[in-house]
Amino acid sequence: MKNKVTVVGAGFVGATCAQRIVEKDIANVVLLDVVEGLPQGKALDIMESAPVEGFTSKIVGTNEYKDTENSDIIVIVAGMARKPGMSRDDLQIINAKIVNEVVMNVKDLSPNAIIIIVTNPLDVMTYLTFKISGFPGQRVIGMAGILDSARYRYFISQALGVTSNQVQAMVFGGHGDSMVPIPHYATVNGIPITQLLSKKKIEEINQRTKNGGAEIVGLLKMGSAYYAPSAAAVEMVKSILYNENKILPCSVYLNGQYGLEDVYCGVPVKLSRKGVEKIIELELTKEEKLALKKSSETVKENIIKVMALY
Ligand code: LAC
Repeated sequence: MKNKVTVVGAGFVGATCAQRIVEKDIANVVLLDVVEGLPQGKALDIMESAPVEGFTSKIVGTNEYKDTENSDIIVIVAGMARKPGMSRDDLQIINAKIVNEVVMNVKDLSPNAIIIIVTNPLDVMTYLTFKISGFPGQRVIGMAGILDSARYRYFISQALGVTSNQVQAMVFGGHGDSMVPIPHYATVNGIPITQLLSKKKIEEINQRTKNGGAEIVGLLKMGSAYYAPSAAAVEMVKSILYNENKILPCSVYLNGQYGLEDVYCGVPVKLSRKGVEKIIELELTKEEKLALKKSSETVKENIIKVMALY
């Protein structure tokens, strides 16, 4: 039997996630939104592409939570996107209300599901989901590191004039202005970028990566990125459902790892059918450790503000 993935939120990120999942025939999808007709219309439109695209997975659009019952994975993307000039943190009170409602509705219908959060501010929304769902941290995971790292990999590939799939690189920390690109673990087919690019160029790329989401918001003027965010979320869905055990940067519950306590923050993890199979602890430079700590402190301050309301 095919796996079942629910995507909550049928805006650009949600619908593109749903499209990518069925086009790759990874799972059947339930696309849920509170707006009547929106998920049904997008689901029908995507299904009408099946004869041309050749996929056999199904997608159902709905406004009813009962249709999400027994999902293997629930991807929560519901929430407001930022407008130019806004930071991800500006969204936290309104999006916390939305995420809280979604989690309360899905948790008992799919008690064994793995929840992937995409709603911003990402790390805070993932912590909130962890707390109110009562699910173990292993099964509540935030999508951000793969997106930030994909941007980092792309910018490195552009600077070097190489295809981007040759570039491996990771961004740690919270999904915000304080994220932490890690150049000394970035390679092109195993060659450290520190041997291929100047310090100045690497610093420029780091800055552009940190500003990657805002750069798209600034260009689009309405809404935020969705092609790269949906690709990153689907990479997690696939790694989990196919038990791929890929090592990917994700926002996970840290309780001592990297010296951080009771916080969600982006670090590399092994993703399997169980969710977070293992948190990978790497050696970081003094500056990187400090930057990661600072980033987690920013997340924590926001967690405290949001959790005071729940
Ligand atoms: C971004 C938003 C989705 O980084 O946070 O594009």
